[in-house]
Amino acid sequence: KEAKVTIDRDFSIAETDPRLFGAFVEHLGRCVYGGIYEPGHPTADERGFRQDVLELVRELAPTIIRYPGGNFVSGYNWEDGVGPVENRPRRLDLAWMSTEPNTFGTNEFMDWCQAAGVEPMMAVNLGTRGPDDARRLLEYCNFPGGTELSDLRRAHGWEKPHNVKFWCLGNEMDGPWQMETKTAWEYGRIAAEAAKLMKWIDPTIELAACGSSSRNMPTFGSWEDTVLDHSFEHVEYISLHTYLNNYADDTAAFLASPDLMDSFIEEVVAIADAVAARRRSPKRIMLSFDEWNVWYRTRRKNEGRVKLGWPVAPQILEEIYNMQDALAFGGACISLLNHADRVKSACLAQLVNAIAPIMTETGGPAWRQTIFYPFKDMSTFGRGTVLQTKVSSPTYETTYYDPRGTSDLRFPISAVPYLKVSVVHNHEDDCVTIFALNRSLDASLSVEALVRGFDGLTVKEAHQMRNDDLMAVNTKDAPDTIAPTPLEGVEIWDETVKVKLAPASWNVIRLG
Ligand code: AHR
Repeated sequence: KEAKVTIDRDFSIAETDPRLFGAFVEHLGRCVYGGIYEPGHPTADERGFRQDVLELVRELAPTIIRYPGGNFVSGYNWEDGVGPVENRPRRLDLAWMSTEPNTFGTNEFMDWCQAAGVEPMMAVNLGTRGPDDARRLLEYCNFPGGTELSDLRRAHGWEKPHNVKFWCLGNEMDGPWQMETKTAWEYGRIAAEAAKLMKWIDPTIELAACGSSSRNMPTFGSWEDTVLDHSFEHVEYISLHTYLNNYADDTAAFLASPDLMDSFIEEVVAIADAVAARRRSPKRIMLSFDEWNVWYRTRRKNEGRVKLGWPVAPQILEEIYNMQDALAFGGACISLLNHADRVKSACLAQLVNAIAPIMTETGGPAWRQTIFYPFKDMSTFGRGTVLQTKVSSPTYETTYYDPRGTSDLRFPISAVPYLKVSVVHNHEDDCVTIFALNRSLDASLSVEALVRGFDGLTVKEAHQMRNDDLMAVNTKDAPDTIAPTPLEGVEIWDETVKVKLAPASWNVIRLG
């Protein structure tokens, strides 16, 4: 098979926002306890932060981390997680049917973010709580001092304000699984009021309203329209979530599914801009893709989602990612990059153990899952200007199965190009990076890329991820089964790059 790509230095989509390369830490399973935080672990520092995990986080290079949930936040009392640890209550967490010990909370998270070199993104509880609680948490976090709550933070040992800039107004409020789920009208009102109060305290913050939990929600479309009608003046972002699946055991459809993320993004943009148009407003609401990943094995089956007996930090959502998951995941990275003009923030859900690129054994080692590598590629080489790509590639037809509740939803996807590609030009080192996914399962793809407007490009580095066994995984005992290897045979003459991409492969080519 053969494909052609044309790129021009002057034809750009947008600069990637650093927040496009975010991730997510929720009080869920072993993400916090036994993941980022494990006092007594051989690598833990005096604060209980696992240094082996921190090292992998630094290598993965996320920029912003969303916290504390997720479904968890909709029942969370933030006061439970601050102050002397011995006074903190143990509580039932109804999101994940576990017991929350509260030995890790907001201040510990801020310290951990500093250690990891990432920006914190906080979510407020608009499920069991509301605007009043949101403004109290903001005052605790961001107000310098001289009020009850800011002085409480100082008394707890954090003299300086945390200055959290990015806040999520609740989580997945359209979902019946959410504690105190709401109609779009109810949520829109509450989100607008919470936003007003929060911005009166700190006008420098940026706010994301909850959009749809997935493209297949029955309320998708009307939800965004109603929520933004209430909150348009008060927020900067609307969120969207996607978990790609291969329930149907149909690899071709699975690898095509990131194209539905493209559609989802473009549809949300259209709705947000329609709300702006009704107001004759030049303001553009940006998108916060604050949960995205592959997730299905531990999603619908109860034993993967919850464990009986209200355990602390149960082993739930511990999805083991294989080679083909990494390919679909890479496709999602390309979808995000190619929408850098409107997706200004995105969070890989999640970071450690629960549907995560990093796995740990409690008391034992930490290792990289297959999806670690495409994320690392995107966050390391995706900084800069995303260029428009004109792609000519053979295509295929497929149907993607995306269940909703007990119903079977099938989405035909037509003319899926075997080649999915994104190109980013980094101005600092003047490097051009080509991210390319070959979705053909049995044929290599000869790609000819015309890269216009760059003088004297040479191949700086090229690597690929592939394996004859699409089911191959990384484990504690074989942590390097799937890892990038050099991509040989990249040729360049003048402005033309030629390369042969292996079947079912993720490829990164750096020119400079
Ligand atoms: O990331 C896991 C869960 O998926 C989150 O808690 C929730 O927001 C979503 O449904």
